[in-house]
Amino acid sequence: MVERLLEIKDLNVVYETDEAVVHAVNNLNLVINKGETLGLVGETGAGKTTTALSIMRLLPDKTGIIKSGKIGLENINITKATKYDMRLLRGNVISMIFQDPMTSLNPTLTVDYQIAEVLALHKRDMKKAELSKRVDEILEMVGLPPSRKHEYPHQFSGGMKQRVVIAIALACEPKLLLADEPTTALDVTIQAQILKLMKELKEKLDTSMLLITHDLGVVAGICDKVAIMYAGQIIEQGMIEDIFESKYHHPYTEGLFGAIPDLSKKTKRLNPVEGLMPDPTDLPTGCFFHVRCRKCMDICKTKEPEIKWTNADKTHLIKCHLFNDNK
Ligand SMILES: Nc1ncnc2c1ncn2[C@@H]1O[C@H](COP(=O)(O)OP(=O)(O)OP(=O)(O)O)[C@@H](O)[C@H]1O
Ligand code: SF4
Ligand SMILES: [Mg+2]
Repeated sequence: MVERLLEIKDLNVVYETDEAVVHAVNNLNLVINKGETLGLVGETGAGKTTTALSIMRLLPDKTGIIKSGKIGLENINITKATKYDMRLLRGNVISMIFQDPMTSLNPTLTVDYQIAEVLALHKRDMKKAELSKRVDEILEMVGLPPSRKHEYPHQFSGGMKQRVVIAIALACEPKLLLADEPTTALDVTIQAQILKLMKELKEKLDTSMLLITHDLGVVAGICDKVAIMYAGQIIEQGMIEDIFESKYHHPYTEGLFGAIPDLSKKTKRLNPVEGLMPDPTDLPTGCFFHVRCRKCMDICKTKEPEIKWTNADKTHLIKCHLFNDNK
């Protein structure tokens, strides 16, 4: 039976600076079921990291504000959780691998100390010897020799450091892992190894995952579901086969696929989406994509499209007037 783990409803997040209000996430809806991996895809500035930071309640103090909406994790309302509640949840029930993982390790502490720290915080009854044994097990699990546990982060390669970051994130076997571009800083071979490791571990530990990336190749290799994000909104969502095999797509998604070279076809030029994402301090009326859309109609400039199912199985959603009845 499918069990819901994370449910985000009508989430609105802004950054309020002295100069302007940045509308980073706009009426976002998202569901992740138990054991599922959802790929969150979108170009730079789409609001992917802001979404993850909202789930972790780690938005910058005072400037980053959840204006409205609900983030539910099982029976916990994260939007209403106190600082104390969040300290109990972070690292234990929800973990995050940050966009720049290399800087999330403390250069002055040994690797075993950093893994043991998370365990000690959440598993308070663990004795010292037990902690040390568990650190060894976790290092082995991520493919690192426990004999190197007393070394500092700078003594490890980029790929190894990323394994340490994964070890810390998974130490307490969280229910939900938020991975923000976990392999972007790595070369292609190491990237493939790390993704394979993450996939194996998440299956072993039955962890659900929100995988943030701008790489559709990464999505194809690891995700069950995909959500495409544009200007703080989900504009298309579906099972992996809906996104890669359906003939119906949001024009922005078509543009994303048009920007990938297809080695099986002779193509003179790639066909990427022209233009830039709208200014999040001054979002357009109607469909947020209308300024860049090759299929833009009059209605698109004034009326926001609804997100609608495109298939009888209700697995594939598209937010576009081409798929609304009122076009
Ligand atoms: N601390 C902040 N203060 C003001 N604006 C911010 C802040 N952090 C992010 N933003 C803005 O919020 C919007 C969404 O940013 P976010 O980092 O969530 O995008 P992203 O999809 O993760 O992009 P990338 O792929 O580049 O990581 C952007 O317009 C960004 O400039
Ligand atoms: S609603 Fe209109 S402008 Fe927006 S993506 Fe669809 S066709 Fe393009
Ligand atoms: Mg980001």
